[in-house]
Amino acid sequence: MDKKCTTKTKPFDMKILERWFILCYIVPIYAGSLFGSLFDFIKESCEQAANEPDDTLEILSEYDFIVVGAGTAGSVIANRLTENPNWNVLLLEAGGSEKFIMDIPILANFLQLSEANWDYKTVPSDNYCLGMENRQCNFPRGKVLGGSSVLNFMIYTRGNRRDYDNWEKMGNTGWSFKDVLPYFKKVENFVVPGYDNDTKYHSQDGYVTVSYPPYRSSIGKAAVEAEMEYGSRYVDYNGATSIGVSFLQSSMKDGVRASASRSYLHPIKNRNNFHLKKSAMVSKILINPSTMLAYGVEFLLNNGKRYFVNASKEVIVCAGAINSPQLLMLSGIGPKEHLEEVGVPALNDLKVGYNLMDHIAVGGLTFLVNTTDADSGLLKPKSFKEYFPNHKGVYTLSGGCETISYHDTENPLDPNGYPNIELLYLYGSLSSTRIFRRIFGIDGDIYYKVYGPIIGGSSFMVFPMLLRPKSRGRITLKDNNYLSKPVIEPNYFSEEEDLDNIIKGLKILLNITQQPAMQSIKTELYKKSIPNCEANGFGTDDYWKCMARHFTFTIYHQCGTCRMGSEDDDDAVVDPRLRVYGVKGLRVVDASIMPVIPIGHTNAPTFMIAEKGADMIKEDWNWTSSN
Ligand SMILES: Cc1cc2nc3c(=O)[nH]c(=O)nc-3n(C[C@H](O)[C@H](O)[C@H](O)COP(=O)(O)OP(=O)(O)OC[C@H]3O[C@@H](n4cnc5c(N)ncnc54)[C@H](O)[C@@H]3O)c2cc1C
Ligand SMILES: *[C@@H]1O[C@H](CO)[C@@H](O)[C@H](O)[C@H]1NC(C)=O
Ligand SMILES: *[C@@H]1O[C@H](CO)[C@@H](O)[C@H](O)[C@H]1NC(C)=O
Ligand SMILES: *[C@@H]1O[C@H](CO)[C@@H](O)[C@H](O)[C@H]1NC(C)=O
Ligand SMILES: *[C@@H]1O[C@H](CO)[C@@H](O)[C@H](O)[C@H]1NC(C)=O
Ligand SMILES: *[C@@H]1O[C@H](CO)[C@@H](O)[C@H](O)[C@H]1NC(C)=O
Repeated sequence: MDKKCTTKTKPFDMKILERWFILCYIVPIYAGSLFGSLFDFIKESCEQAANEPDDTLEILSEYDFIVVGAGTAGSVIANRLTENPNWNVLLLEAGGSEKFIMDIPILANFLQLSEANWDYKTVPSDNYCLGMENRQCNFPRGKVLGGSSVLNFMIYTRGNRRDYDNWEKMGNTGWSFKDVLPYFKKVENFVVPGYDNDTKYHSQDGYVTVSYPPYRSSIGKAAVEAEMEYGSRYVDYNGATSIGVSFLQSSMKDGVRASASRSYLHPIKNRNNFHLKKSAMVSKILINPSTMLAYGVEFLLNNGKRYFVNASKEVIVCAGAINSPQLLMLSGIGPKEHLEEVGVPALNDLKVGYNLMDHIAVGGLTFLVNTTDADSGLLKPKSFKEYFPNHKGVYTLSGGCETISYHDTENPLDPNGYPNIELLYLYGSLSSTRIFRRIFGIDGDIYYKVYGPIIGGSSFMVFPMLLRPKSRGRITLKDNNYLSKPVIEPNYFSEEEDLDNIIKGLKILLNITQQPAMQSIKTELYKKSIPNCEANGFGTDDYWKCMARHFTFTIYHQCGTCRMGSEDDDDAVVDPRLRVYGVKGLRVVDASIMPVIPIGHTNAPTFMIAEKGADMIKEDWNWTSSN
C-alpha cells in the first residue's frame, strides 16, 4: 500500500489503456451476450415492486391492532390478524421496500453494506471480537420490509424437540414440542424431496417455501460425503431427530429468497383492512400510567413528521431482539434503575434487555482446495445467465452456505442426541474477496497478514458453531433518544465452558476434513497464524481458543431479550401468551421472547412463535375463522 502511494505516475499509464479497453470493448460484448438475462432481471425487479404492498395513503386515527416491525414475526402477525375482515391492522416498518436484488441468494452477505441494515456493533471487548476493528463485532439486523429475513442466509432449521420441551418445563405452558409442531407445519410449504411425504413433520399448506437450492458445488458434495465417512447419517434435521448431515434446507422458492414479506405480505396486498407504512419508526408505545393500558404508538417518518395512532385492542411489538427491548425501555418498561439513569420515567420494573443470547462460531477456518468449480467466478456471464431466467446455478447458494451437520459432543453419532455443535460449510472463505473484511468488520492489519497471501484463491470455510451457549449478554439504552443505537454487550465466552465446547466442535471438523472425500479435492487447512495467537503454537487448544476470541463470528441469532416466563419467574418480561407483564393491551411477538435459544437458526422458530402468537391473539379476542 505504501509502495503504491510513493510510486510516481509514469508518462504513459497502461492502466488507462486497459480501462478504456474494458469499457469500450469488453463491456459491450458482455452486455450484448447478457441482454436476455438483463431483461429478465429488470422484469423480475418490476414484478417484485408491483407485488409488494404499497404504503397506505391515509392513516386512520385508530386501529384494532398496531404491529410494530414488518420482519419475520410482524409479517406473520399482520397477515393472520387481517384474516378477520372486521379487524383493521396497521403495520409500521422503519425500513423501506425490499428490492429484487436482495432476493438473489448468493448476494446475502453484501446486503449488510446496504441501507437495509441497522448497522449495529457490539461494545469494544477484551474477551471476544478481538480480531475485529476496534474489538467490536458487527451486528447486522434487517431494516427493510421483511426485516432480518431479507438479510439472512435462508438456512431453515427448526431446532430440536428438546428445545421446546425445555421451554415448557421452565413454566411456559403450551410451548412443548408437541404444542409447537403444528405451528412449524403451518409455516411451511415443504418441498424437500425424500422428506416432503413425511406428514407427521411436514406440510405443503404454509406460506414459506422450504427447498434445497438447485445448485451443488463439489465442495458441498465432498462435505456431505466426508461427514458420512466420519459416521454421520444423512438426515432431515427438520424431522424427528437432528444429529447428522444434510444439504441446506433453505427458505427459498424456485431459487429466490422466500422472505417474510414475500411469503406473508405479498399475498395480502389487496386486503382493505391491512394498512402499511414503511420508513415509519415507532419512537414510543403510549401507555396510560394510571390504568397501565397500552393505547397506541407514536411514530415518525423520515421527514421528521410525527404521528400518534391509537389501538383499540392491542399494540404488538415485533421489532426484533435488539429493537423490541429498546422500544419497551423507551416507553418506560424495563429495569427501573437503568431507565432512571437515562432519564426515562419508569412505569414497570421488568428485566427487559437481559438474557441476550446468540449462536457464535470460530470464524476464519480456511481450507485450500483444488477443484475446478471452487472459484467459478460470480462475475462470469455464465453464472448470470444460469440465474436469469431459470434461477439455477451458483447464484442460488444461500449466501454461500451449502452443507450443515449437527453433532452432540457428549454422545458422538447417537442419532437421537441433542446437538451442541453445528458445522456450517460455506462455498468460499474470508479470502475469496476483500469485501468480506468490510462485511465482517475484521481489523485490516490482521486480515491482510493472515489472508493476504491467498486472496482470490480456491478455498472454503467452515463455521464450528456453539448451539447451546451458557453465556448471556444484555442490551441497554445509550440515552432516551429513540434514534440512538442501543448498547449491545453479548458477553460471549463469559462462561469458559462455551469456549471448551466450541473447540470440541472444531476438532470434529478437523477430523472430517481428513476423510477421503475431502482429501479427493485436496483439502488442506490453511495454517497461517493470527499474529496475536502465534505464541500459542498453531493448532494447539490454546491457539484455537485465542482464534475463537479473535474471530468471534455471530451467526446473527440474537434473541431472548424480552424473555417469556411464568408469573413466578422474576426474569420474565412476557407471559406464556406473550403479554407484557403489568401492562394491558401489549404483547411482544418475535425472537426476543425465546427463554432459551433453540439449537436451530432462529428464523424458523420466529415464524413458529408468530403463528402461535397470532392464534393466541385471536383466541383472546374470541375470533376463530369459522365464526
Ligand atoms: C445477516 C443475518 C443472517 C441470518 N441468517 C439466518 C439464517 O440463515 N437462518 C435463520 O434461521 N436465521 C438467520 N438469521 C436470523 C433470523 O433472520 C432472525 O432471527 C429473524 O429474522 C428474527 O425475526 P424478528 O421478527 O424477531 O426480527 P426482524 O426480522 O429483525 O424484524 C424486526 C423488524 O422491526 C423493524 N423495526 C425495528 N424497530 C422498529 C421501530 N422502532 N419502528 C418500526 N419498525 C422497527 C425492523 O426494521 C425489522 O424490519 C440471520 C439474521 C441476520 C441479520
Ligand atoms: C387516543 O386515545 C387517548 C386515550 O384514550 C385519547 O386521549 C386520544 O384522544 C385518542 N387519540 C385519537 C387520535 O383518537
Ligand atoms: C418418502 O419417500 C421416500 C422416497 O422418496 C421413502 O424413502 C420414504 O420412506 C417415504 N417416507 C414416508 C414417511 O412415507
Ligand atoms: C490441481 O489439479 C490439477 C488436475 O487434477 C493438477 O493439474 C494441478 O497441478 C493441481 N494443482 C495443485 C495446486 O495441486
Ligand atoms: C477421526 O475420528 C475417529 C473416531 O473418533 C477416529 O477413529 C479417527 O482416528 C479420527 N481420524 C483423524 C484423522 O483424526
Ligand atoms: C371471550 O369470551 C369469553 C367467554 O364467553 C368471555 O368471558 C370474554 O370476556 C370474551 N373476551 C372478549 C375480549 O370479548
